[in-house]
Amino acid sequence: MPVVVVVGMQWGDEGKGKIIDLLAENVDVVARYQGGHNAGHTICFNEKQFVLHLIPSGIFHENKLCVIGNGVVLDPQALVDEMRQLEETGVNLEGRLVISDRANIIMPYHGTSDKGRESGGGFQKIGTTGRGIGPSYADKIARAGIRACDLRDEAYLKDRLQANYQEKQKILNSLYGSELPEFNSLFDELLSYRETILKYIADTHILMRDQIALGKNILCEGAQGTMLDVDHGTYPFVTSSNSTAGGACTGLGIPPTKIDKAFGVIKAYTTRVGEGPFPTELFDGDGERLGKVGHEFGATTGRARRCGWFDAVVARYGVHLNGIDALVLTKIDVLDGFKTIKVCTGYEYKGKVFPDMPADPEILQNCKPVYAEFEGWSESTVGIQDFDRLPENAKRYIQQLSDLVETPFMMVSTGPDREQTIQLESAF
Ligand code: GDP
Ligand code: IMO
Ligand code: MG
Repeated sequence: MPVVVVVGMQWGDEGKGKIIDLLAENVDVVARYQGGHNAGHTICFNEKQFVLHLIPSGIFHENKLCVIGNGVVLDPQALVDEMRQLEETGVNLEGRLVISDRANIIMPYHGTSDKGRESGGGFQKIGTTGRGIGPSYADKIARAGIRACDLRDEAYLKDRLQANYQEKQKILNSLYGSELPEFNSLFDELLSYRETILKYIADTHILMRDQIALGKNILCEGAQGTMLDVDHGTYPFVTSSNSTAGGACTGLGIPPTKIDKAFGVIKAYTTRVGEGPFPTELFDGDGERLGKVGHEFGATTGRARRCGWFDAVVARYGVHLNGIDALVLTKIDVLDGFKTIKVCTGYEYKGKVFPDMPADPEILQNCKPVYAEFEGWSESTVGIQDFDRLPENAKRYIQQLSDLVETPFMMVSTGPDREQTIQLESAF
């Protein structure tokens, strides 16, 4: 029985939430391996819409275990809020939600630091979600972080917080003139989460190890997208974790030898939120139309997403980096009615065409996309469930994308709802 990783192939918001929820029907465990409440994963069924930030996208299927791995950074307030919202809609979490005792905790001073750095100083603005993600991962790597397991030991927790408090108070005050809340109020706040959270905290490596040994179907859920990966994305305009498939190993404590497959979720065009290079970005009516028809507003911050054509350089890069076995194409319906659809096949810079993703920000920022053009279709594809019922040009477009990235599509999504999906190949 397979262990499968599902990753976003672009700059996030590809529709991972919808697809993971769909795939979850046939798995036993859904496990998030990185990121934090910067993510916004939308799931629609029975005419209702839910946006998950931290809790894995398998939570709406009863009897599925949902794991928050050690690679996730956990804001306790955001977690408790999300748990309450789910419980209010009738979702049972007890015995189903398990949080790694090795996950690092996002503290209020991480948010202060994130916003402080974004609002001035020497660094270029990244356009972060302001959720304290970068500073909390920085503390993790600097070995200064506070982990979920520390909540079990009040004296140890106090020591860890005290050391951080003294350091952050000085840094944040001198850099941004910020005052941290009183130490005791910060400590009491942290303690107050224990009652709600502690019973969900466990050693998730052992849980994953045992589930794998039992031959269970396991889906590892990536947040963000390949181009936001801290190592492989458009650095420095990235998030602070490894969103690519390898992150599932470190972020869940699963050995690479136990991962069987990787699936990529990819939009029929491209979007990005925040700053940073985006070679196929459109600044014309076509871009506006993609944003409007696709409702391209951030599920976490509500910011308008930048829109552009499909980028096969990005897609091929993601296929190789993640070892993608099959892709899921989302939002094909948003292209309905376009007379011509463009796809970028390479980047031209100073007379040279780059077929592969360059690392240099200068090239990425100033290259010109080389486009292939495809004829669009006038018919609606919204809600189509059968590939044969797609307009001929839509079928052709899908086939051309598959050829360009040398990878098959196993599903095509034709709307936000679970039902609005074409199944081409079985995932399991
Ligand atoms: P994620 O972060 O990758 O889970 O994606 P988001 O939830 O942030 O953004 C994807 C948006 O597109 C959500 O509003 C989804 O409901 C919506 N969506 C997903 N698939 C489709 C699709 O095939 N067609 C349309 N029109 N919307 C979709
Ligand atoms: P999902 O999982 C889209 C972007 C931010 C910013 C950069 C760094 O819903 O696809 P951060 O707060 O992580 O330090 O911000 O990353 N970003 C996302 N963009 N979807 C997301 O998540 C994102 N999570 C972070 O906009 O450019
Ligand atoms: Mg999202």
